[in-house]
Amino acid sequence: MRLENRLALITGGGRGIGRAIAFTFARHGASVAAAARTRKQIEQVTREISDQFGVESLPVECDVGHAESVNNAFERMRAHFGRGPDIVVNNAGIVETELFVKSDERMWERHLNVNLGGTFRCTRAALPEMIERRWGRVINIASIAGKTGAPYVSAYAASKHGVLGLTRSLALEVAAVGITVNAICPGYVDTEMISRGIEKIVAKTGKSADEALEALKRMSPQNRLVAAEEVAALALLLASEEGRGINGQAINVDGGTVLF
Ligand SMILES: NC(=O)c1ccc[n+]([C@@H]2O[C@H](COP(=O)([O-])OP(=O)(O)OC[C@H]3O[C@@H](n4cnc5c(N)ncnc54)[C@H](OP(=O)(O)O)[C@@H]3O)[C@@H](O)[C@H]2O)c1
Repeated sequence: MRLENRLALITGGGRGIGRAIAFTFARHGASVAAAARTRKQIEQVTREISDQFGVESLPVECDVGHAESVNNAFERMRAHFGRGPDIVVNNAGIVETELFVKSDERMWERHLNVNLGGTFRCTRAALPEMIERRWGRVINIASIAGKTGAPYVSAYAASKHGVLGLTRSLALEVAAVGITVNAICPGYVDTEMISRGIEKIVAKTGKSADEALEALKRMSPQNRLVAAEEVAALALLLASEEGRGINGQAINVDGGTVLF
């Protein structure tokens, strides 16, 4: 599978799953724009992939929670590459755990605004050019929490369920013009998001970090965390020419935790 002559925008490309996708796409020949708020991380990722794989890359400071920031990011990308992306990976995301009765309007807003709103904004900015070119890939990094519920993450789960609704509807709207829209639903992935979750479990329950980690691993019948590279491997298939028949799907990478 090759991605030569493709330009990919990866939101949240500075660390974790987004970083792994940036490396995988660059290894397969794509030019990459990595967007996030932490400049140092996206600069490091783009420098490393250009050095290792000789592809063009651009760090784009962007907060997907703000329309103006997303529009500026697309302007910078177009100024640099002369065009918008062929592939958009909507990966930027946040999670906060809290009892529903202790959650407030601001926490609810943050999740919907970044996880769902960010996916809307970046897709909306990229799609007209994809339609013109009659080729495009939108890959939304949702979660198994987009398919099933879990305690303490109602705002997160609601935002990720929303991402699946957007994915399925848009997939049907653009299917005839060479564009596919799919979601990936990871289980627990070994990234900072999970390390922060473990810290919170330790603080709230008094469990040790090892016990908290083991409990998360046991959520999967494979009794392990998923590696970010496993998510990236599926993103590569969805981004490729070979993946053109896959559309409107929400595919789990979770070792069998959720069977639908
Ligand atoms: N780790 C898991 O177990 C897991 C499981 C299922 C789904 N997911 C999903 O996978 C995606 C990536 O998660 P991860 O585990 O790699 O998390 P992570 O290590 O915390 O990385 C999240 C990335 O998103 C960026 N980001 C967050 N808010 C942003 C904003 N407002 N604007 C732009 N970028 C923003 C972060 O950069 P800045 O903070 O610098 O902006 C960072 O690059 C998320 O959508 C998450 O919900 C993760």
